[in-house]
Amino acid sequence: MEFSQLLTTRRSCRSFDSTPVTEDQIAAILQAGCWAPSPLNLQPWEFIVVTDPRTKTQVRDAAEMAKNEVIAADGPGWVKKYSADFVQDAPLLLVVVFNPGKGGLGAFFGQPHGALQAASACIQNMMLKASELGLESLWFTFFRPDELAPVFNIPENLEIAGVIALGKPAEEVKAPPRRTPAVYGERYGVLNE
Ligand SMILES: Cc1cc2nc3c(=O)[nH]c(=O)nc-3n(C[C@H](O)[C@H](O)[C@H](O)COP(=O)(O)O)c2cc1C
Repeated sequence: MEFSQLLTTRRSCRSFDSTPVTEDQIAAILQAGCWAPSPLNLQPWEFIVVTDPRTKTQVRDAAEMAKNEVIAADGPGWVKKYSADFVQDAPLLLVVVFNPGKGGLGAFFGQPHGALQAASACIQNMMLKASELGLESLWFTFFRPDELAPVFNIPENLEIAGVIALGKPAEEVKAPPRRTPAVYGERYGVLNE
């Protein structure tokens, strides 16, 4: 698929069918992730490939707990209707973890998030690659990291950038609209007419 088309047709998917993601597809998706830029080329990401339904249920349960926290704290009303059941249906979850200590020099001058930024670029690459392969994905973060770290046996020096649900979409997803971004000329607040 042509790149510009891929950019606009990739969609966050919350309904998957049961077609497994093949080993070749997984390899291609991880490879795409690894071509992301990273500070000092430190490539701070590591991946956990998850297909065990019991583990997926634990992710769903962690989402339910997070949802209850939002509700208890009087968060946005729509959260009550949000269901993370699709996490169980997705044939594959890719957990992307990163080492926050591999963020390059930024920590010396007020930019401590280099490793997360790199892991995020890695995730975007993987999601675009998945779309190219006829799959769709969801960058899932609706959980307390402390709840999931033991589920995946993640060591204390690593953090979770996201759990990426992947598979063939069960239905077509409408593109959420994009806002026209604020674009300024030379300095913030100066509109480019
Ligand atoms: C960092 C990040 C975290 C996200 N977390 C969730 C999530 O926990 N659950 C969810 O349903 N969608 C999540 N999303 C997906 C967004 O809702 C989605 O990208 C947005 O609505 C735009 O839709 P699109 O990806 O189809 O263009 C997340 C996206 C990003 C970038």
